[in-house]
Amino acid sequence: MGLYESLLRPALFNLDAEAAHNLALRAVANGLVKAQSTKQEPSIHFGVTFPNRIGLAAGFDKNGVALNRWKDLGFGFIEVGTVTRYAQPGNPKPRLFRLPEDRALINRMGFNNEGADAVAKRLEAAHPEIPVGINIGKSKVTPIEEAGSDYEYSFRLLAPLADYVVVNVSSPNTPGLRGLQDKEPLDALLAALRDQDWKKPLFVKVAPDLTLGQLDDVLEVVAKNKLTGIVATNTTLSRDGLTKDPDIEGGLSGAPLTGIADGTLEYLRTQGDPSLVLIGVGGIMSGKDAARKFELGADLVQVYSGWVYGGPKFVSDLTACTASTSEPVRRS
Ligand SMILES: Cc1cc2nc3c(=O)[nH]c(=O)nc-3n(C[C@H](O)[C@H](O)[C@H](O)COP(=O)(O)O)c2cc1C
Repeated sequence: MGLYESLLRPALFNLDAEAAHNLALRAVANGLVKAQSTKQEPSIHFGVTFPNRIGLAAGFDKNGVALNRWKDLGFGFIEVGTVTRYAQPGNPKPRLFRLPEDRALINRMGFNNEGADAVAKRLEAAHPEIPVGINIGKSKVTPIEEAGSDYEYSFRLLAPLADYVVVNVSSPNTPGLRGLQDKEPLDALLAALRDQDWKKPLFVKVAPDLTLGQLDDVLEVVAKNKLTGIVATNTTLSRDGLTKDPDIEGGLSGAPLTGIADGTLEYLRTQGDPSLVLIGVGGIMSGKDAARKFELGADLVQVYSGWVYGGPKFVSDLTACTASTSEPVRRS
């Protein structure tokens, strides 16, 4: 058992989950967290060079406060956000919960973030040395019918500062947001963003709870608007796979999500255009889980809950297990 499992994790897990998260993020930002060296295996995706294919998922460093540090922790890329047009406090606390028996988290953060202007300033000054994605969402105060202009504002400001942009329409914690995954609203939103800056690689992040018919619609709209790819998946509303349903509202991530997220990824790879770039995320708790995502057709993967449970050595464990994984399967 390493230092993280024996000492640090118990200390952090004694704190309220969000307080522990904030403490860990501050420690990372101040260079206090060290990781083992990570096996680097550069690869090029959508014209961008990634030192390795393991990224930090959106939501951990929402405001990009530790941007210059993620490379030293072994990550091959980082996704900042979700960022909204307006700064907002998010939902009332408590809003982040650990389920250690199930190696899972439930969150209903509600896009707490400093807003597009503040994050843009931080990105301008940063030297992350690894590719940076920007994940954008809708501000709570903006009515769903005006979502397009809200996303457009953040997109115009942040896209030039990032290597790729993710349109988040899959958080369960902003009322009405997931409805933007439906065919017509998604088409309107993506067409508007594509018209803004076509040169920036654009992704949409989907929920693991979509039906196959809904995934077909997403694939159709993604192809029509010539998106670069899809991030699959966000957290789930399902409570399957838990030893006991804790009756907590929010999105579930971690081990119980693995199968559902893998199923979504596999469907998108087998049904989507072979050129589609897929970023696989959801329930990667071990090197084996990451290797399976690549086998199912992910080009890149991201982690969140696994990193919380696994600690600083998690990324090097993953790169060790996945370094020799062959190129993603592309079935047409
Ligand atoms: C506390 C917390 C906050 C999150 N915030 C965001 C977010 O702001 N935007 C987003 O797209 N996903 C967010 N996510 C979802 C993660 O990026 C990821 O898709 C999900 O947790 C599944 O991966 P995992 O099983 O490795 O945790 C959040 C997840 C957690 C646990």
